[in-house]
Amino acid sequence: MCGISAYIGYREAYPIVVNGLKRLEYRGYDSAGLVIYDGKKMQLSKTKGKVSDLELITDKEEGRKKGNIGMGHTRWATHGVPNDINSHPHFSQSGDLVIVHNGIIENYDTIRKELITRGYVFESDTDTEVLINLIEEVKLNEGCKLGKAVQLALTSVVGAYAIAVFDKTKPDELVVARLGSPIAIGVGKEKKEFFIASDASPFVEYTKNAIYLEDEEMAIIKIGKKVKVRKIHDDSIVDPIIQKLQMSLEQIEKGGYDHFMLKEIHEQPKAITDTFRGRMLAKENMIKMSSIEDNLDKFLNADRIIIVACGTSWHAGLVAEYLIEDMARIPVEVEYASEFRYRNPIITDKDIVIAISQSGETADTLAAIKLAKSKGAFVYGVCNVVGSSIARETHTGAYTHAGPEIGVASTKAFTTQITVLTLIALKLGQANKSLSDEVFENYIQKMELIPKQVEKLLEIDEHVKSIAAVYKDATNCLYLGRGFNFPVALEGALKLKEISYIHAEGYPAAEMKHGPIALIDENMPIFVIATNKGHYEKVVSNIQEIKARSGKIIAVVTEGDTQVRDIADHVIEIPDTEDALTPLLTTIPFQLLSYHIAVMLNKNVDQPRNLAKSVTVE
Ligand code: G6P
Repeated sequence: MCGISAYIGYREAYPIVVNGLKRLEYRGYDSAGLVIYDGKKMQLSKTKGKVSDLELITDKEEGRKKGNIGMGHTRWATHGVPNDINSHPHFSQSGDLVIVHNGIIENYDTIRKELITRGYVFESDTDTEVLINLIEEVKLNEGCKLGKAVQLALTSVVGAYAIAVFDKTKPDELVVARLGSPIAIGVGKEKKEFFIASDASPFVEYTKNAIYLEDEEMAIIKIGKKVKVRKIHDDSIVDPIIQKLQMSLEQIEKGGYDHFMLKEIHEQPKAITDTFRGRMLAKENMIKMSSIEDNLDKFLNADRIIIVACGTSWHAGLVAEYLIEDMARIPVEVEYASEFRYRNPIITDKDIVIAISQSGETADTLAAIKLAKSKGAFVYGVCNVVGSSIARETHTGAYTHAGPEIGVASTKAFTTQITVLTLIALKLGQANKSLSDEVFENYIQKMELIPKQVEKLLEIDEHVKSIAAVYKDATNCLYLGRGFNFPVALEGALKLKEISYIHAEGYPAAEMKHGPIALIDENMPIFVIATNKGHYEKVVSNIQEIKARSGKIIAVVTEGDTQVRDIADHVIEIPDTEDALTPLLTTIPFQLLSYHIAVMLNKNVDQPRNLAKSVTVE
């Protein structure tokens, strides 16, 4: 969490830093701040609130915007409430050093007490102010340069960090370091300028050359010089790999939509097609996935598959459990990464762990992967962000190719995760002959239709909007589904909670009788997935039970359905497909519904309160 955006070069730093922060706001938006150095003064501006609030302040302080070196930060509070003082950047006591930091220094209190005994006084409650003063103390004590002082200070720190540090007595360099939180360095033409950011989005229009630091690496960035990278703990030199960015500016802009979330919902037909590319060979009735083919023995001989993930990705994992068990008959367990990593799980080298993550940076998922690897398991990643920590930490895997997802509420990442996981389930089912050729080929042909079906489904937007208008003032909602669509019910409820702050629960439809039924009255909207295959009659019975208690039914049905239409208050139709593939369709109306309700309630759709897109703290 937290976003870092910094610049050193020949251009005005302010617009680069501020625009960079706006692109990184998905990482946190409790408070924002920046420092611009004009060769003489460190000009600091910071405030509680969003980057737009920071801009309002700096607009009044016009003079504070000049200078070719700048560092900015958008915060998701860990230590200290989000207020002006706790906002980054933070200065050292002398005022010479300044830092922006993403992560948590766990032993900050011990270090703080130690520094207090040496005469340091702290203004804020943050671990970050402790770190910059520790760096200053080391620098003074050792009489060393900034880079060495950062390195030595970091060896006594426990926790996670991505940091950028500037020393006004050495104004041609920035020092950056990472452990557990991402940092990318954009290398400008002829090394005349450098961009530092939590991901590459802040500098995509300036350079396509990026260095991604690995854990425990630090870099000294000096104008006109090659970036010097070394390992923090053993001091070994690392030859940095310059990667060519694939991301385009267009992908990270709203492209005419009011919100990123709406844009991303509408991008799903393309995103799913991109996920298929090179893998779904419908004409040949084939799935090509080298990451599975190359490890087929491992998959086919595995005792079980354990899926680890958080949030929406965990819901995709639940869909995968149903898919893989149904299609490939391999036992699957799905675990919250945060629980898995701390509950002393039984893992052997006969287990395969699949880690699912949009960002590829979620701290708990990353830790779960490391644990599984340490016990000998083979770890497969399903990630969206190319080159992310999880993509690098797993043995192999598949990218979802959804493109950048910026809205905090995940949409296209979810459907593309399910797409990849469906391909994996089909591929394994074919390989171990759990699926006959006929069944497999039927799936392929139906799967191929999904992007077009999603496109058609998106035409229901106005209809969903009219339903949203009816239920926008509800205080509690229930989402019900069975089988493959039980996880979709969970995801539907999560989407509504996340962006509209309406309490919602997802439940397996039959389980409703064991609790939630007590909540049902004439004010309670209940969203039920009642597509015409799997357990249709059972779901119809559940709907009858709700009606008998005066609940309002909004049912997602297969087009042409008449039975549920007669009982439900509203129906939303999805195109016909195989039961196992319906999650790719039933999800869409719930995304639109949450979106419209949040807009009608005037909520911040793309940046819901207290949430962050990439949770890099545990
Ligand atoms: C946060 C985001 C969710 C996301 C979850 C897991 O909570 O707000 O949208 O599902 O993290 O993130 P990951 O990047 O690992 O999929």
